[in-house]
Amino acid sequence: MKISKKVKFMLPIAVATVMATSASIPFIRNVNAEITGTSGIENFSLPKVTGPYNINANVGSDPKELDFAWFTQSSGKTQIKISRTSNMNGTEFPTSADIQDAEQTVVKATQSINQSETALTDIDGKATPANNGDAVYNGKKTAGAPTGEYSNKAKVKGLDPDTQYSYSVSDGQGNWSPVYTITTLPTDKVTFAAFGDPQIGAFDNSKGTAKSNATGGHKNLNDDKTGWNNMLKLVTQNKDLNFLFSMGDQINDYNYLVQPSNSSDGQWYQYRDFFNPDSTVNYMQNMPLAAFCGNHDHQMGEYYGYHYNQPNISKLGATQYGNDGDYWFTAGPVLFLVLNANNYGTADHDQFIAEAIKANPNVKWKVATWHQSAYSEANHNTKNELDDPVLTIRNTWTKMMDKYNIDVVLQGHDHYYTRTAQMLNGSAVDPNTGAPETLKNSSNASVPGTTNPNATYAKKEYPDSVTNPKGTVYFTLDSGTGSKYYDFNKGNNDTIGGSADHSFSVVGWQGYVPSYSYVSFTDDTFTIKTYAANDYTIGNQSLIDSYTITKK
Ligand SMILES: [Fe+2]
Repeated sequence: MKISKKVKFMLPIAVATVMATSASIPFIRNVNAEITGTSGIENFSLPKVTGPYNINANVGSDPKELDFAWFTQSSGKTQIKISRTSNMNGTEFPTSADIQDAEQTVVKATQSINQSETALTDIDGKATPANNGDAVYNGKKTAGAPTGEYSNKAKVKGLDPDTQYSYSVSDGQGNWSPVYTITTLPTDKVTFAAFGDPQIGAFDNSKGTAKSNATGGHKNLNDDKTGWNNMLKLVTQNKDLNFLFSMGDQINDYNYLVQPSNSSDGQWYQYRDFFNPDSTVNYMQNMPLAAFCGNHDHQMGEYYGYHYNQPNISKLGATQYGNDGDYWFTAGPVLFLVLNANNYGTADHDQFIAEAIKANPNVKWKVATWHQSAYSEANHNTKNELDDPVLTIRNTWTKMMDKYNIDVVLQGHDHYYTRTAQMLNGSAVDPNTGAPETLKNSSNASVPGTTNPNATYAKKEYPDSVTNPKGTVYFTLDSGTGSKYYDFNKGNNDTIGGSADHSFSVVGWQGYVPSYSYVSFTDDTFTIKTYAANDYTIGNQSLIDSYTITKK
């Protein structure tokens, strides 16, 4: 994340209400900021695009479904055509191909939002240091300007799992996309590549005074696009890969569809580059995607939601900007609970998780994922302000993970790789007994996967493989593109003050090179291997960390 200087924040106005209900989870309702300014819709003019663009296929509710989304600049009856690839004659669809009408909506965006800051009270109604000064991008929509675009969405159901399909989408004016191929997810196991914030367009942060400026930071939008393209090139060399999982902040710009200061940058261009970093390879069209809303994605209101077609999307966890609440999907033996942390109250999410688990009682594994990481070690480590509700989430959402026996949590936002111990009731615990444990430093090893002299790395004494562990393990993933990195927080990065807590961390790494996590679930194992990209070939990637959970 970053806070643009262009966004003005007003003094805190507390509007949160607290509802104390069961057990020890602080239930916080209605985390709503009040708008005190007016939104300025800047003049913008988009490049003319003929035919469908920003085409992507989201994971479906289960492996028999894929949920497609694409943009057009023309209205009309847009459609998707899809067939088993084995029935295709080259790029020609058979007469048996399924043709489905899309749902089309007018795309709107809210730009340059002035918001107030929300101060949350805790469960006791007090503004504690852990909660004081929170804000959330959850304001009322003050302006929704049509962008001249249309969002088209089609959920295709009844597909065969683990099967390759060919598809093409139309713009309603007779123009069809190229034919892409995509494989549905399997039912018995699942493997995916997870990235921390791609944040296409964040390069300008590297021009500042942050240390990352000294690490070869990206200099323009094209550098971010190239970083993303290289990462996709690398991860798709994993032949067992079933889908791509992005931890939010897919794009960077807070305020503008098209920047007044740079007519070739802004969210519009950043989405274009996220979905099409290389139009000759079409990585994003050929692989199912799971993505969710980071603070940057959220800052232009409803513009985010038009880009994705997410399964089982709920009003629970939504913000006032639109229907971008929580969603769930199943793949292999796993239930994925995708939570919108831009609304970081607990009541909605708690209800959502309960309902999703009730709808999927037989899953072997439960994974929760959201953007603003609970346990992070860099820039957001001790902050709890504006768009960084890290401490509130640490103090509240983790209790939901305990309550629902979530196995694994995947997060972004901090641009610094962190693997925690098994966490229970807010503490690192012995995986076997669940008793609180003070982690000890391991021997000083060299920093894996980098030669950068500013790199930081710490490993504590803790097993890399556990069986039937107590508690939940949390991962925060570093940048998947290299668009922005954060430095280890030694306790002096925080304008609020206070020491940085790293008691939860087993492995922390900042190599200032792009990284990703390769995650596999079978019925009885979870394995995550996090790699630093070197030359973007799988043979030369470097293992940063590995962790395995076995369930017997
Ligand atoms: Fe973020």
